[in-house]
Amino acid sequence: MEKIQSAIAKARADRAATRLHDDVPAVETPVPKPSYGPPVQHSTRVASRILTTYPDQAVAAALTVRWREFPIFEPVKAHMARNHVVTFTGAPDSVHFDVMRTRLLQLMRANGWRRVAITSPGPSCGKSTLALNLAFSFGRQPNLRTLLLELDLRRPSLARLLGLRKQHHFSRVLDGSEQLHDNAVRIGTNLAIATQSGAEPQSAEMLHSPAAGTTLDAIEASYDPAIMLCDLPPVFASDDAMAIMGHMDAALIVAGAEMTTIREIDRCEREVADQTNVIGVVLNKSRYQEKDFGYDYGG
Ligand SMILES: Nc1ncnc2c1ncn2[C@@H]1O[C@H](COP(=O)(O)OP(=O)(O)OP(=O)(O)O)[C@@H](O)[C@H]1O
Ligand SMILES: [Mg+2]
Repeated sequence: MEKIQSAIAKARADRAATRLHDDVPAVETPVPKPSYGPPVQHSTRVASRILTTYPDQAVAAALTVRWREFPIFEPVKAHMARNHVVTFTGAPDSVHFDVMRTRLLQLMRANGWRRVAITSPGPSCGKSTLALNLAFSFGRQPNLRTLLLELDLRRPSLARLLGLRKQHHFSRVLDGSEQLHDNAVRIGTNLAIATQSGAEPQSAEMLHSPAAGTTLDAIEASYDPAIMLCDLPPVFASDDAMAIMGHMDAALIVAGAEMTTIREIDRCEREVADQTNVIGVVLNKSRYQEKDFGYDYGG
């Protein structure tokens, strides 16, 4: 583990200074805005960097009503356990994700971030599993609302991992043709997950389109989540991850132990850092996980 961490640190040190992304330009091309009801006053992307205070009781009540519009879904415990989603039941392993959640939240609050991309260099490193584990861990925080969005439109998996059969198309929300609450479910009171049934053939175009950024802004403004976790595709598999990365506040990179090379992590980190803030590299599937939960969380 130490070897991996120092190799990542060395690769970082060898690089030129990373850039922060406050200067990423807002979407310029005007596109039709999907309607989600009036936005919460403080939460436009640029103007607001506050994560927890609600502007007033009326707005808070309107938000509660809006969140109730998501249909409730109750995942099956055994299905979640089979898919390594340990935080759903609060199994002992979930403590690792709770630690990650707390550190992530501190970092997000300190920087005024809300949108976190979860990506990886190559496929099958465990992004979607991590995204769900973090989502349920955040979902247990009673005073926080969490949204998890399926943004791997080419090879979506959140619906399958959740055991959700209802057909959802987050791609249609992204292009402004359908509403979020018709393509997402709520688990408990303060976690909502938007899913995608089947591959979206136009995924790259869709994620590149200005409508995608506008929709993410509209969702954030209307539902006012403290955190929006976004399950992205692998960086090297297609253009899709990088197409949407500029709309993220920060990114977590998942590496698969004995799957991903240091060179791949380094290249991936560099490419992602061109578009957003890299929070750190999570080493997943480590055989040493029991003794030393394998993640590097350095920024
Ligand atoms: N910590 C873990 N321990 C054991 N198996 C895991 C772990 N994390 C993920 N897996 C398994 O690895 C496989 C890939 O996981 P997952 O679908 O989360 O990866 P992914 O990075 O999202 O893949 P893709 O690139 O296809 O989107 C799944 O079978 C999952 O159950
Ligand atoms: Mg995945």
